Amino acid sequence: MTSPVRLALLGCGTVGAEVVRLLHEQSADLAARVGAPLEIAGIAVRRLGRDRGDLPVDPALFTTDALGLIKRDDVDVVVEVVGGIEPARGWLVEALRAGKSVVTANKALLAEDGGTLHDAAAEGGGDLYYEASVAGAIPLLRPLRESLHGDRITQVTGIVNGTTNFILSAMHATGAGFTEALEEATELGYAEADPTADVEGFDAAAKAAILASLAFHSRVAAADVHREGITEVTAADVASAKAMGCTIKLLCIAARGADRQGREAVSVRVHPAMIPVTHPLASVGDAFNAVFVEAEAAGELMFYGRGAGGAPTASAVLGDVVAVARNRLAGVRAASESAYADLPVRPMGEALTRYHISLDVADRPGVLESVAGVFARHEVSIATVRQGPAAGAAGAAGDAVLVIVTHVAPDAALAATVRELRGLDIVRSVASVLRVEGGL
Ligand code: NDP
Ligand code: HSE
Repeated sequence: MTSPVRLALLGCGTVGAEVVRLLHEQSADLAARVGAPLEIAGIAVRRLGRDRGDLPVDPALFTTDALGLIKRDDVDVVVEVVGGIEPARGWLVEALRAGKSVVTANKALLAEDGGTLHDAAAEGGGDLYYEASVAGAIPLLRPLRESLHGDRITQVTGIVNGTTNFILSAMHATGAGFTEALEEATELGYAEADPTADVEGFDAAAKAAILASLAFHSRVAAADVHREGITEVTAADVASAKAMGCTIKLLCIAARGADRQGREAVSVRVHPAMIPVTHPLASVGDAFNAVFVEAEAAGELMFYGRGAGGAPTASAVLGDVVAVARNRLAGVRAASESAYADLPVRPMGEALTRYHISLDVADRPGVLESVAGVFARHEVSIATVRQGPAAGAAGAAGDAVLVIVTHVAPDAALAATVRELRGLDIVRSVASVLRVEGGL
């Protein structure tokens, strides 16, 4: 058999340890698939003394000198499962410029500065693969960057954060509030000790940037993504959604379309939204991920599975390792980054969305007309209006609840409508404002 393909593994935590385990358990199969054995040349970690349980690997392979390991002549492929921007960026640029192939799960780095990594890969001639960076085990990036390259993708809509999907699913199932559902997610090990990146939407925004870049052949960074988390979603919002036959999900939505000047552009956003319970993404429960892709010729495609966890994520990492190892043996590299379209990113105000607005109002003649007048002034078309009695302790005698769902309008017009409604004296309060996606 050919001489081994040698791997430098950077990181041996939740994902890295599973990569080591799978490399050991499946070594014969992997060697047969690659055409050469895969060998670990070294493993860079932060703490040499950390207890790593019964990990099937020679302890002498561990080092704290990641850069020294990367620079070794006998390393062909660098697998980065450390995370964060630095020092990971410096390591990967060093590896790529030196012609090594890189496999990484680091969504934060790819979304912050993927361009630098792609440029370094082009310079060095190695591969840059990152299937595990979005939606864990789900084969998604390869279909976007290979299988769908003959088609034109129009929209990608995804649930790409397991922690928030667990929380919103629990709120829907039990009527719990956000804090209670987050506590449950933490107890069960779904949410991290510091859940900020998940519940504030940063994790999903990074993934949205990666998806948009691949789907629309453009460089989209996390800073281009409009981001709202789920911390403001209340039990009342969830009840309101249920009453409309909907559920609330944290969606990442990347869409292409014409901007105000008629130029082709993309909009990329992450926010909670109501979707009908009949929508394919509505049934994605627990901590699962799913991504719905719409393409002109292919139509609608759905990718579903585990978006996190050591073994599922390691599966995606190893798939990439096999691919880059095969390429090295064949003396080829995968197609380089496809960013030729270079589409501009539209501001959120131009994104076309629909709103569901619940208002507590005075119940007297002319109120509906005044409220409708605000929508008309901002050129927002109302799709449905429902009036009911004011509910609960907050509802005073002589008040009513108005639930209004709009047609599609620019987000800026919808936001301005809500601002003006808040200022009307006949509006006691704007109880809930949620975007609506996926038809209603
Ligand atoms: P962990 O925190 O579990 O592991 C991080 C590893 O990196 C540890 O082994 C740590 O060493 C090592 N490390 C940290 N800093 C340094 C440093 N300066 N030098 C050398 N080694 C260092 O992270 P995960 O395994 O959960 O995540 C890794 C990557 O995978 C991240 O980019 C993450 O976003 C991504 N990812 C993770 C998923 C998951 O479910 N966990 C899912 C999808 C992607 P030590 O062991 O000594 O502490
Ligand atoms: N924290 C992420 C999630 C892990 O909850 O989905 C996978 O990137």
